[in-house]
Amino acid sequence: MHDLESYRADPKKYHEEAAICDAGAFQKIAKSRRSIRRFTSEPIPPEVTRACIDLALEAPNSSNLQSWEFHWIRTPALKEELAHACLDQAAARTAAELIVCVARRGTWRRNAPMIAAQLEREGLPTATTLAYYRRLVYILYTVGLGSFLAPLKWLVLTIVGIFRPMPRGPLTKSDLRVWTVKSCALACENLMLAYRAHGYDTCPMEGYDDRRVRRLIKLPRDAEIVMVIGAGRRSKGGVYGPKLRLDASLFVFEH
Ligand SMILES: Cc1cc2nc3c(=O)[nH]c(=O)nc-3n(C[C@H](O)[C@H](O)[C@H](O)COP(=O)(O)O)c2cc1C
Repeated sequence: MHDLESYRADPKKYHEEAAICDAGAFQKIAKSRRSIRRFTSEPIPPEVTRACIDLALEAPNSSNLQSWEFHWIRTPALKEELAHACLDQAAARTAAELIVCVARRGTWRRNAPMIAAQLEREGLPTATTLAYYRRLVYILYTVGLGSFLAPLKWLVLTIVGIFRPMPRGPLTKSDLRVWTVKSCALACENLMLAYRAHGYDTCPMEGYDDRRVRRLIKLPRDAEIVMVIGAGRRSKGGVYGPKLRLDASLFVFEH
């Protein structure tokens, strides 16, 4: 909301924003982020977690459809059950906060018209963006029950794709899973770096019982748990060793 207001008042602000940079600060945050397996008993002020979740929501995401959810587990009994469902890992048991990060395959249908309405309300729509959120998203992201539209979409995209570059998906429910998980994972990284910037630490976890966690927080069928993030103050012995990475030449290619 503030962004839209200031955009209207002063579009130059967006150029000024580009000048904001602090590579040194970012390097410190990114390099000091470690997966912490044991936290101290120090609580995290709720406003810090709220601020970090807000920063997670600043992450880039596909078509700005914001197909993510962050379930901050605040009820002590539920948190205990969740830690148990996280295989009783020390990172979960000792975390001051546990956040279940969820990607939704289906919320784009709810969000697209809301984005169009927000653009209109704020007086910012262009015909192209409105058409995108009102029509094109349905063509792009509808895969049909059991992905039954996949062969048809594939055929159309393949034929048109002979003549010009075309997006080749998502075609199936599984493509949509990948689509939504990508955006949510970016927000997860924002969340972890935000905690680090506030002086706290995190541990991303995929070591959990998916079925139990889903049941615990009553997730709908289109939800994918991307990871559970434990947060807190790092404790002595909470870092297992120095940061270890293989040589960058294995992973970085210049074409
Ligand atoms: C998606 C994902 C799932 C992970 N799951 C677990 C987990 O269940 N338990 C755990 O102790 N660490 C988990 N980790 C942490 C990784 O083991 C850790 O990031 C990796 O060893 C690199 O260490 P660093 O994070 O300190 O740089 C996970 C990391 C990611 C990104």
